[in-house]
Amino acid sequence: MHLKVKKEKGEDVRKKLMGLNLLDINRRILSDKDFLFIPVLKEIEIPDTELVEIEGERVPRKHRSLREALKNRLNPEELKLVPRSFDIIGDIAILEIPEELENKKSIIGDALLKTFKNIKVVANKKTRIETEFRTRALEIISGEERKETVHREYNCSYKLNVETVYFSPRLGTERMRIASQVKDNERVLVMFSGVGPYPVLISKKSKPKEVYAIELNPEAFRYLKENITLNKVDVTAIRGDVREETKKLGKFDRIVMPLPKDAGNFLNVALPALKKNGVIHFYDFAHNERESIEKVKEICRELGYEIEILKAVKCGSHSPGIFRICVDLRVL
Ligand SMILES: C[S@@+](CC[C@H](N)C(=O)[O-])C[C@H]1O[C@@H](n2cnc3c(N)ncnc32)[C@H](O)[C@@H]1O
Repeated sequence: MHLKVKKEKGEDVRKKLMGLNLLDINRRILSDKDFLFIPVLKEIEIPDTELVEIEGERVPRKHRSLREALKNRLNPEELKLVPRSFDIIGDIAILEIPEELENKKSIIGDALLKTFKNIKVVANKKTRIETEFRTRALEIISGEERKETVHREYNCSYKLNVETVYFSPRLGTERMRIASQVKDNERVLVMFSGVGPYPVLISKKSKPKEVYAIELNPEAFRYLKENITLNKVDVTAIRGDVREETKKLGKFDRIVMPLPKDAGNFLNVALPALKKNGVIHFYDFAHNERESIEKVKEICRELGYEIEILKAVKCGSHSPGIFRICVDLRVL
């Protein structure tokens, strides 16, 4: 099964499929003069694409998947437990090896290094993301002994430490969706900015008047400053708590709130900082778009703000049945 998409939209669709874990990495992306045909693991509806049945082409890799590479090293029961997917941030692969395979983790890490030549470090998740800074403990199981890397997307570079700061490589398309909505001369605030993927891209791809980025984690803030310099963009970075810093900055045309775990508790900070007809991009974890829309509407009603919902999109998956959702809303 392939998704047929116009060439100029191909990269966005590919990244979206990656975020949803639906890209079939064992098959090639095919093309004709105007269209790309992107292999998918199951049926999915994405605007401006069409599901087509065409003959696929397998990727001629020595080992097409991690499981295949491990066929002769693990028994069938163990093989079933090997993670199907993993993230790649820069040249670091991050995966979650189940407890049952604890004594096989260096075999798995080495197989990853051998199969994917762009990977230089393999790290295993040790904890869930639960801290205020949205970070998790990682252990290196193969490759070089480092946790710092440079991740590239949409012609931007982000230096970061995969353990001490939050970064998701699956949100590239979503970040571009936001950046491409920014109009000339807007004042934009990115709350919870992390190492800067939203403010840097917005500043690079659009023509805002000013972009502000607020981040609490000192390590993420240090990388944010470095990434502003690295990408030669004009962004004002502020280290501190959104609750304290936002009110010092005047009014904005657009506020991005990429803290899905808790953004609802910060709408009372964002709404007063918005100009009339200003736009908020509100991130949430929920079962579906409707649930997030209802949440936003209720909080805004309680706070006494009239809003118009512009759009709500699923932009990633969080856990089984729970999605990362962005609600775009205008304050009237
Ligand atoms: C989910 S991460 C998103 C980071 C970044 N926007 C991205 O997409 O990579 C949320 C970020 O918000 C920061 N944060 C959490 N609470 C905060 C607060 N009260 N004020 C400012 N930043 C905060 C965390 O340290 C973390 O870097």
